[in-house]
Amino acid sequence: MDKLVINGGKQLEGTISVSGSKNATLPIAVAASILGDGSSVIHNVPDLRDVETLCAVLEVLGAGTKFKDSTLHIAPRNEIAFEAPYDLVRKMRASIYVLGPLLARLGRAKVSFPGGCAIGPRPIDLHIKGLEHLGAKIEIKEGYIIAQADRLIGTEIDLSGIHGPSVGATANVMMGATLARGTTTIRNAAREPHVSDLANFLNAMGADIDGIGTSVLKIHGVKQLRGTEYSIVPDDIETGTFMVAAAITGGDVFVKNAVPENLEAVSEKLTETGVQLNWTDDGVRVRIRGELRAIDLRTEPFPGFPTDMQAQMMGLLSVIPGISVITEAVHTDRFMHVAELNRMGADIRVRGHSATVHGVSKLSGAPIMVSDLRAGAVLVLAGMAAAGQTVVSRVYHIDRGYERIEKKLTGIGADIVRVVD
Ligand code: EPU
Repeated sequence: MDKLVINGGKQLEGTISVSGSKNATLPIAVAASILGDGSSVIHNVPDLRDVETLCAVLEVLGAGTKFKDSTLHIAPRNEIAFEAPYDLVRKMRASIYVLGPLLARLGRAKVSFPGGCAIGPRPIDLHIKGLEHLGAKIEIKEGYIIAQADRLIGTEIDLSGIHGPSVGATANVMMGATLARGTTTIRNAAREPHVSDLANFLNAMGADIDGIGTSVLKIHGVKQLRGTEYSIVPDDIETGTFMVAAAITGGDVFVKNAVPENLEAVSEKLTETGVQLNWTDDGVRVRIRGELRAIDLRTEPFPGFPTDMQAQMMGLLSVIPGISVITEAVHTDRFMHVAELNRMGADIRVRGHSATVHGVSKLSGAPIMVSDLRAGAVLVLAGMAAAGQTVVSRVYHIDRGYERIEKKLTGIGADIVRVVD
């Protein structure tokens, strides 16, 4: 298992480039493999463990996949299998994305029920409710979701849950509805940039989706979708992570390929702390001038502050004098990174769904262990800001969602070495 050895205290300077969005690539690769007649060529695909895992699932279902130089070629074969077995699905929750497309294409699907994960329980009731509204009969049996429908039929569906709209349910139902008979209206649809990117991709395949980027999506069913060529939107969470990297090291960094409209909430909160942001046509310059201020923040579905940036922002606030309060309203138990940050000298107390961060003047390097992807990101950020050496283990969590993180950060002055055990 790889480790990252980080010697902290280096100010980051220079230009760092953002790769394509992980959370857009996953459903887009599924749609291309199951819904499309003919091959698709997808550009700006990040080289990530999660993409590799998903391609293994798609190969089992019957798509040929080839990945080279950020381009993913997908060639669906004539016969598509309807079962996604436990051994594959357990490796990645996003495998649940095959459910809607398999139903739409084959009229049946058998997909292993994904479990919880390190960031808390993650139910799929909204996915099931949405597909049932489209006419599917669904039962849970022996750990599998078994779904059947002669033909999905367009209808009106409200997808809001107790924690707001669901990204995954919106994507699953939207993909299923593209080939349904009639029009499907999804109310309280998730509006995250990767949901919109999926909708744009589906339209490029010949789907007819209106309201992209709003909370009401209208999907007019079509008879057939075809393969297409497409380029994935830059990753907003990788962008935000690099913006915080610049801030936490007191650096001066240009984050290239940053998309301003996908980062408004993150930019607003960074600006509130006093971080200087200068947006240009192809990215954002991030630097520090003077003292930073403690702030409060609450995660919310897009366009609110993203849960996937909560950990990274907590890392920054842990070294800003004063008291900051962070409330996690999306994945309400997502505080696994707190114990590790505290081991590095942070002073963070969790109560219920909130964390109170008492800013300290400095973190100190320590051996630490990653519990999930974004916890991994903040521990790398904290290691770069800390005095001394930090050794990060269980790096595979980070590799799921960040493309060559140590290489990119070393390119702007970080001292990070990957050690292969
Ligand atoms: N929820 C339900 N029922 C459902 C589905 C979700 O109650 O059927 C709840 C969840 O428990 C959570 C909230 O609704 O409290 C939002 O969950 P959502 O369905 O939006 O999450 P997801 O689709 O499983 C995606 C991202 C996550 C990201 C969330 C929220 C992908 C592959 N994953 O997950 O990304 O945190 O949306 O934005 O797109 C990450 O990249 O680190 C990551 C965890």
